[in-house]
Amino acid sequence: MSSAKLSPRAGVIGWPIKHSRSPLIHRHWLKTYGRDGSYERYAVQPDDASAFFQSFADFGWVGCNVTVPHKETAYACAELRDASAKAVQAANTLWLENGKLCAANTDTYGFMEHLTQSQPHWRETTENVLILGAGGASRAIAYGFAEAGIANVNIANRTTARAIGLVESLGTKNLKPAAWDDRQKLARSADIIVNTTTLGMSTGNTDAESDDQAFPLGVDLSQRTSPSPAIVCDIVYVPLETPLLAHAKASGHKTVDGLGMLLHQAVPGFEKWYGIRPDVTPELRDIVLADLETPS
Ligand code: ATR
Repeated sequence: MSSAKLSPRAGVIGWPIKHSRSPLIHRHWLKTYGRDGSYERYAVQPDDASAFFQSFADFGWVGCNVTVPHKETAYACAELRDASAKAVQAANTLWLENGKLCAANTDTYGFMEHLTQSQPHWRETTENVLILGAGGASRAIAYGFAEAGIANVNIANRTTARAIGLVESLGTKNLKPAAWDDRQKLARSADIIVNTTTLGMSTGNTDAESDDQAFPLGVDLSQRTSPSPAIVCDIVYVPLETPLLAHAKASGHKTVDGLGMLLHQAVPGFEKWYGIRPDVTPELRDIVLADLETPS
């Protein structure tokens, strides 16, 4: 038996890499399931990323997570790619199969799984989705709703051209680009609203546009044409209760926070590398929450 099988080594690659929560999650699972293996952080400079992924088989790891800014490079260097990675054109989870580098994008799975666990009946009540933002996370989530067969998925982005590009590249007829100025109108009838922008992040965007609005993201959730409450999701998890989620709760809507996506997206990688499908438990959530609340 090879030493990789006895004690698999994996980790997370990015630049910078100091703030990644992935080691906390995977080391918790290694301990919980009594697995002999390790999970490390490894900083790779942008100029070295291609060479790193191309020679990954010689590195001694069974696989890795990939974070910013290397997700697109990891995707480009992989020899085999899953459907979500192809849709998003970026990979966050890599593993080796017969020496070949394989890539997945588990953000779609992470978001959809957390949504389903938080709101088990969402599918039965959802025809209209509004996604705010058109970056990589938006792409992964739009793909998830398109795959789930939701009739209307509108993507509103400050830069409309990016929303158009996202819809064109995913090539699914139920996705539609929308002007940023139409977000309030679309929010009135949306069954699910998802924020994938950086607005609301405590360390993130503080520009005038985000601060000047009476309502988070310029969306007043008390103004609805739909008689049913919406499910309002934010992928921002610092703070856990973003201004959008606080406003949604105060207006009588259901909310889904961003932490669950982070935890669930880690599941497929752990299973590939260490051979057991781990559970996302309240205990794990508390451990990560406590870490998020600790000043760095
Ligand atoms: P990721 O890939 O992690 O999703 P990203 O590519 O940096 O992140 O995208 C960030 C998103 O937040 C984008 O949709 C961005 O809008 P633009 O495409 O117009 O840049 C959005 N965003 C950032 N700051 C914003 C602001 N002040 N108002 C509205 N949207 C904003």
